[in-house]
Amino acid sequence: MNAAVASAAAAPLSDATRARFAREVAKYPADQKQSAVMACLSIVQQEQGWVSPDSELAVAEYLGMPAMAVHEVTTFYNMYNQKPVGRFKLNVCTNAPCMFAGGPQALDHLCSQLGVEPYGTTADGQFTVQPSECLGACGDAPVMLVNDRHMCSFMSNDKLDQLVDGLRRAED
Ligand code: FES
Repeated sequence: MNAAVASAAAAPLSDATRARFAREVAKYPADQKQSAVMACLSIVQQEQGWVSPDSELAVAEYLGMPAMAVHEVTTFYNMYNQKPVGRFKLNVCTNAPCMFAGGPQALDHLCSQLGVEPYGTTADGQFTVQPSECLGACGDAPVMLVNDRHMCSFMSNDKLDQLVDGLRRAED
């Protein structure tokens, strides 16, 4: 078992969080509540900004499933943050079609402009830059995703700079 998972203690769930979990679990047959694991992890991330080992354990206990099974879900999908991230999480696709159409260069440019390594967060806590697997818009390469929600297409260096400037202004 992962050391972090093995040493974690389940984080207490608030009544509000439990109510949100219950609404997700209710969408499935009573003997298949584990099917709500992704939704519950998303709720944790919405509320806390990331999914800690303690939170994984709390989800596992709530759903009656092994902690490692929850950890496997968290680590399989890169939309789940396994450590705290900046206010703006910028995922740049470097999967094969984007790799041949400027994805790695876009990642390098963003990292250089923001002064971070891949997976790094700026000192002011505003931006985290990460490589990403295919985002399902290969024809728009290079592609990136902001905060797991907003897809950005054909990200030239100029467009990347404009995006960062716009997000910085949104912060002001
Ligand atoms: S490979 Fe980049 S979106 Fe598919």
